[in-house]
Amino acid sequence: MTDHPHRTIPVKSWTFDDRTNSEIRRAAATGIYDIRGGGAKRRVPHFDDLLFLGASVSRYPLEGYRETCATDVSLGTRYAANPIRLDIPITIAGMSFGALSGTAKEALGRGATAAGTSTTTGDGGMTEEERGHSDKLVYQYLPSRYGMNPDDLRRADAIEIVVGQGAKPGGGGMLLGQKISDRVAEMRNLPQGIDQRSACRHPDWTGPDDLEIKILELREITGWKVPIYVKVGGARPYFDTTLAVKAGADVVVLDGMQGGTAATQDVFIEHVGQPTLACIRPAVQALQDLGLHRDGVQLVISGGIRSGADVAKAIALGADAVSIGTAALIALGDNDPKWEAEYQKLGTTAGAYDDWHEGQDPAGINTQDPALQQRLDPVLGGRRLSNYLKVMTLEAQTIARACGKSHLHNLEPEDLCALTMEAAAMARVPLAGTDWYPGKAGF
Ligand SMILES: Cc1cc2nc3c(=O)[nH]c(=O)nc-3n(C[C@H](O)[C@H](O)[C@H](O)COP(=O)(O)O)c2cc1C
Repeated sequence: MTDHPHRTIPVKSWTFDDRTNSEIRRAAATGIYDIRGGGAKRRVPHFDDLLFLGASVSRYPLEGYRETCATDVSLGTRYAANPIRLDIPITIAGMSFGALSGTAKEALGRGATAAGTSTTTGDGGMTEEERGHSDKLVYQYLPSRYGMNPDDLRRADAIEIVVGQGAKPGGGGMLLGQKISDRVAEMRNLPQGIDQRSACRHPDWTGPDDLEIKILELREITGWKVPIYVKVGGARPYFDTTLAVKAGADVVVLDGMQGGTAATQDVFIEHVGQPTLACIRPAVQALQDLGLHRDGVQLVISGGIRSGADVAKAIALGADAVSIGTAALIALGDNDPKWEAEYQKLGTTAGAYDDWHEGQDPAGINTQDPALQQRLDPVLGGRRLSNYLKVMTLEAQTIARACGKSHLHNLEPEDLCALTMEAAAMARVPLAGTDWYPGKAGF
């Protein structure tokens, strides 16, 4: 840009940046709000803002090749006769059949099983592919009740009552007609090819008392055998955790605002809910106040988990396990640059593609199109996912050993420091170089 003697160099507004202006133009042209998949794209305080301290003179590290660092976790030890026992504390989050292809569900089941962990159904019900290939399958009980089948409740290894999701606490989902194939329509008991909204709240609840009744009902249907999880979006984690536990939950699944979704309004994804980092300590505090942290009720954290470092940080802050959605899809091949030419045709680029609801996913994952689905080989996809889960586990173990821990669950906030004031306040760990963090109260 050349300098002009009578003008300053052109400066774009920080407030009206290119993305904002493009959204205004899109809204003006179409008259409808933007729907998309994925999680929040803006930068919010996250696990990257924390660092592990590692051992030195005052702490004693463990030797990687000789000393073990265990990674197993049991979920649902409170009331269930058969808690879920996992080899690794990384589970596959609930993702709907309808959003995802049957092949993708199979690949998730294969990958999770090979890695010794669980996968989860989603809106739209349980498919044979995922039940058949998932050693441990969590069955979601959702506000929409799409695909809800009492027989499937009894075929599940755990039940997850979905109250909300981090991408859209208080909101519902969308499935556009393009993705309502005959099979999806049949499972959801709805007409083919018509846009569907998933409800934002359960039809038979008006408050936490009804959650208690629902949990009891599900326990009776499943004979008190399997754990009952309650999944909430990151809204008011202290109170939501307290109420879920008081209603009888075995496990609380807490999904922060970076959590992915198959489809909802962009305005929801970017503007509703709290960052994952900000949700963990209040939820842990709630469990500690109830005397149920770790051994009583387990806490599963999700929303933007990408690496073993994220896993270790979530556990150090008090989570028992984490759950991944987006990262699992990327491991299968989602947003792979090898499909760049096709992303370009859709007006986007690899890494930015999020119009999953349109059913044209070049990677063959977020689609019901038979030709596109064939692009995903479920055996290869499963292997890629189990490799990725293995790497994350090894990374978390490496960090834990360096902190002198013989089990991932021995990691603690004391092992961490924060790079920013915001992260220090949210995670309640000292700002690097100090022994201080802002804000003592206020959950
Ligand atoms: C394609 C897709 C479909 C999803 N479908 C569901 C669903 O049916 N039920 C649900 O509770 N959450 C659903 N989620 C949210 C995930 O369960 C999970 O909360 C979220 O993906 C975690 O954040 P992450 O994607 O950053 O790992 C979906 C997420 C994605 C990416």
